[in-house]
Amino acid sequence: MRAFVSRDMASVGLGADEVAAALIAAGVEVVRTGSRGLFRIEPLVEIETPDGRVGCGPVAADEVAAVIDGTHRNRIGDVAKLPFFASQQRFTFARCGIVDPLSLADYAAHGGWIGLDRARRAPPAEVVAMVRESGLRGRGGAGFSTGIKWQTALDAPGDAKFIVCNADEGDSGTFADRMLMEGDPFCLIEGMAIAGHAVGAARGYVYIRSEYPFAIETMRAAIALAAERIAPFALEVRVGAGAYVCGEETALLDSIEGKRGQVRAKPPLPAIAGLFGKPTVINNVLTLAAVPFILANGAEAYAAIGFGRSRGTMPVQLAGNVRNGGLYEIGFGVTLGELVDDVGGGTESGRPVRAVQVGGPLGAYFPASMFDLPFDYEAFAAAGGLIGHAGVTVFDDGVDMMRMARFAMEFCAAESCGKCTPCRIGSTRGVETLDRIIAGDRPDENVALLRDLCDTMRHGSLCALGGFTPFPVLSALDHFGEDFGAADIAGP
Ligand code: NAI
Ligand code: SF4
Repeated sequence: MRAFVSRDMASVGLGADEVAAALIAAGVEVVRTGSRGLFRIEPLVEIETPDGRVGCGPVAADEVAAVIDGTHRNRIGDVAKLPFFASQQRFTFARCGIVDPLSLADYAAHGGWIGLDRARRAPPAEVVAMVRESGLRGRGGAGFSTGIKWQTALDAPGDAKFIVCNADEGDSGTFADRMLMEGDPFCLIEGMAIAGHAVGAARGYVYIRSEYPFAIETMRAAIALAAERIAPFALEVRVGAGAYVCGEETALLDSIEGKRGQVRAKPPLPAIAGLFGKPTVINNVLTLAAVPFILANGAEAYAAIGFGRSRGTMPVQLAGNVRNGGLYEIGFGVTLGELVDDVGGGTESGRPVRAVQVGGPLGAYFPASMFDLPFDYEAFAAAGGLIGHAGVTVFDDGVDMMRMARFAMEFCAAESCGKCTPCRIGSTRGVETLDRIIAGDRPDENVALLRDLCDTMRHGSLCALGGFTPFPVLSALDHFGEDFGAADIAGP
């Protein structure tokens, strides 16, 4: 008998290692996969049968006998048929949770390397054009056209060029980069090799945050296994040291160069003068991992789904106080309400949803009255927020939004690299101002001061950390003003 059990960090945290050990002790052959992405059913055990895999989950280590004899209380059947999975459009995460992440044979059997082989048969400019036509935009958060970024690097003169993968997934409530690296590392490697061919780079770096030991280990092992397949392109892993700001692309480059991670002024753009001063493509894990699909299936297949200028799919991460927390990949255009209520199943506490933060700690909070907002870069920007890395964090009616606004300023103060004044000083003054509001000290005056400070940070900061901190603060004021105790919370 063969069984599949996830080795993803979240599954292991829920007891997957103990379940796998119990299955092995019972004589079952166990294949460790990535997670399918619905944490409520982890540790998930899928047993191979002539009719396909049959899942049970969650499973405890002392329950494996019931899984084996088919009487387990949490028997699901075909996991892919659960509404949570059946309603997804999995382009990037198609293999995650299904294949053995470190099996080259599995990867090839599930469509791996078709994109790279196709890319290498085409001239670089053609590959760049395909990526541009697919409409793929940066999935790290900024949503800049990947094709244009690659074109800039292709056109930039340089005796050496680099591909850098930003895997410093620092946003709270996000985990898609980690899941992909742990569950389907060859997909990212293939995407980076395609990027190398497209812009003329022979070397690449995957910069992973130190908080992701499983991803670091899996990526290192996968790079060693795939080295021959992707040659002459060569890859290595670099590990961050825990600073949120090293997810900002220029601070990340400084960190790889062995310096303290501090934001560089742009221009020059990294695509023209990046790592060691050479033309460098820096893309997020999800951007690079979307590329093999585009090359294998064509730009039109990717562009065919989506909403407005947001083409293709987005791996949305549902977190916080939500029943069905996990990874949900879907074409752009799904509404926030569909994600939270239908897919997420509402709050885990069973209480009404009060606020949803989209885009990590620098993202805006939205009330349930804005749940018809479509998941789309432009629609979110017009509503005073951002999609960011597509982290969706749910809060019930127990949340104090004034405290959440304070947390945003506190987070910025703790993580500021210190290079520019609006962020370095402004965030600390923001915490102090919010403390005065919390203490009931002249709330009207201090709310006006807070808005003024946000305006300075928004327009005067050098990077997104200081520049975007006003999103959570202002959205808390605008949509949940009753929590601030001020008579006049309205903006100018
Ligand atoms: P940005 O808008 O300055 O740049 C976006 C990207 O496009 C950069 O790589 C930039 O170098 C490139 N670019 C811009 N113009 C170009 C051109 N003409 N040719 C070639 N390349 C060009 O945004 P930034 O500061 O890089 O990122 C901000 C975003 O990061 C925010 O939207 C935020 O959501 C996101 N973020 C993500 C986090 C995560 O954990 N994934 C954490 C914090 C922020
Ligand atoms: Fe550094 Fe903050 Fe300025 Fe960004 S905004 S450069 S993190 S001080």
